[in-house]
Amino acid sequence: MSGFIGRVSESAVKERLLSGLKLLQFKDDDSTGVLFCNKDGKHLYRVVGQVSDLIPLIPEDVDGYLGIGHTRWSTYTRQVLENVYPLSSETGYVTLVVNGLIDNIQMIKRRLIKRGYSFRSNSAVEVVANLIEDNARENEEPIRALHRAMQFLEGDYALLAVFKGNCRQLFFAKHGVPIIIGQGRGAMLICTDYSAIADQANEYYYPKDGELGYIDTEKLVLFNSRLRETKPHFTEVSVSEKTLELGKYPHYMLKEIEEAPGVIRRLINHYFDGTKYRFDDRLIKRIIDADMIVFIAAGTSYNAALVGQRYLRNFNKKVDVFIASEWIFYPYQSGEDTLYILISQSGETADISKCLRTIRAYGADVLAITNVEVSTLYQSADYSLLLHAGTEISVASTKAYIAQITLLSLLYARLVNKITTIAALERVIEAIYNIISRRDDIKAIADKIYKSKDVFFLGRGFDYDVAVEAQLKLKETTYIHAEAYPGGEMLHGPIALVEENTPVVFFISDSLTVAATREVIEEMRNRKANTIVCSLAPFNDSSDSFIISHPIKGYHSPITFAVFAQYLAYFTAVNLGRDVDRPRNLAKAVRDRNV
Ligand code: G6P
Repeated sequence: MSGFIGRVSESAVKERLLSGLKLLQFKDDDSTGVLFCNKDGKHLYRVVGQVSDLIPLIPEDVDGYLGIGHTRWSTYTRQVLENVYPLSSETGYVTLVVNGLIDNIQMIKRRLIKRGYSFRSNSAVEVVANLIEDNARENEEPIRALHRAMQFLEGDYALLAVFKGNCRQLFFAKHGVPIIIGQGRGAMLICTDYSAIADQANEYYYPKDGELGYIDTEKLVLFNSRLRETKPHFTEVSVSEKTLELGKYPHYMLKEIEEAPGVIRRLINHYFDGTKYRFDDRLIKRIIDADMIVFIAAGTSYNAALVGQRYLRNFNKKVDVFIASEWIFYPYQSGEDTLYILISQSGETADISKCLRTIRAYGADVLAITNVEVSTLYQSADYSLLLHAGTEISVASTKAYIAQITLLSLLYARLVNKITTIAALERVIEAIYNIISRRDDIKAIADKIYKSKDVFFLGRGFDYDVAVEAQLKLKETTYIHAEAYPGGEMLHGPIALVEENTPVVFFISDSLTVAATREVIEEMRNRKANTIVCSLAPFNDSSDSFIISHPIKGYHSPITFAVFAQYLAYFTAVNLGRDVDRPRNLAKAVRDRNV
């Protein structure tokens, strides 16, 4: 993966730049670099490694009032120091970090070589740096060179540029790759990921494609694609993001699991005013009028969409759910008036952005459900609903899933004008507090399963939806092979994999299916599987492993069972010594390949 951060401030930047860079960094990132600018000039430090490898290389007395940093995983070449960003142009006129994919880089490089440039690396970033240098004219503002260079670049990118002799202004350009500009106290920041600067900035501007400009300690100077100065409109982020510290928790995942009650409460407060729901009437009308609803999402967000699908089917809507990376290639259109609901925690998943573009081309409407207000999805949709879960740091999504299905439940309640849902959600909050107080019981289950090679999760209806999320959570965080099946389907093949002591986890919350599911439990026990049953009290059996006694509605069981599933994954991962918050090969938001 790849990300960058830049900070210009009245005080020294090093500490906060490096802490932001750490938040940007993923487990497999294999190169990191920073540049600090002060009155003595530019100070560049790079390493084939991570931030922790870079810190010892930076002398204690080196700092700056302007700094940029980059972290990257080189997906298709072995990383070597020459290619690590930041990289400078031939004479050092400009130093750059770039994210994205520039399609015509080889053509530009050939042209620059003909003009006499030589290259010290194989990196596309050096090509872009030389392109900017080549477009510089004497006695001209550097923004003009940057703007001219942008006219040659084809593809999607975002960049930060530091110009020689100018340590007070940090330049940027954006085309296709999202960046965020934040304003803090006595500081301005630019970053590829909102969560990395959420604790450093109070207001945000989200540059549009083609825009460029610079920040200094107190302002953003912004230009449109024709180099006309424009006025940026900063927005305040609605959720306080001052809670990014781990505090008493050993991992963000644990902290975020236990934030669930607060997340639900915040959503209730936001979307219900005490007597009535607070959804935009235009959106409600749009849903009512649509002939068809299509959910599109990836990963955990897809699993939340499965729940959303059931809610809206109950509202007598034709509903379909697609995985984003599938829908891009097979964008089925029914010809009916369709409202697309795109769910994405980050709002930046590349597949979702591609779907968005295709839907735009259809001229259809999009409802975005996302946790990040300053995201491509939130900013580009026709209707947007915010999850208000606060920044989610752990790669494996927990509180955002809770927020997604809670919000979908509230939306459904609004559609059917059901006020009792609020009281039902209050009971969910109580039930989750109770689960939190019994987390050691779940740890005891994890202690028994962590050496297993396969784990199965079964349920029917809503219980199947949560089983799908439970298997993903376990798989992501523990690297144990896990699968989910609708209760009865287990008998049609997968049962062949069940051996003595194979853990099979069941969720039971529905009077309609309890008897049939108990039969499958018996079947598994006959095969000496280790059956783990998580049930709601009305349908429990005294031998069940985890019983939720609070009176939870069946349609809220995914919210409640999910917390059990998240704990199970968490404790199993801890037992295995996994890097819980940053599982191998995974990224918080899967973006496109980088330069
Ligand atoms: C990645 C993450 C998953 C996440 C998925 C979708 O694969 O590792 O945890 O569910 O992306 O992310 P989104 O931000 O679109 O919800």
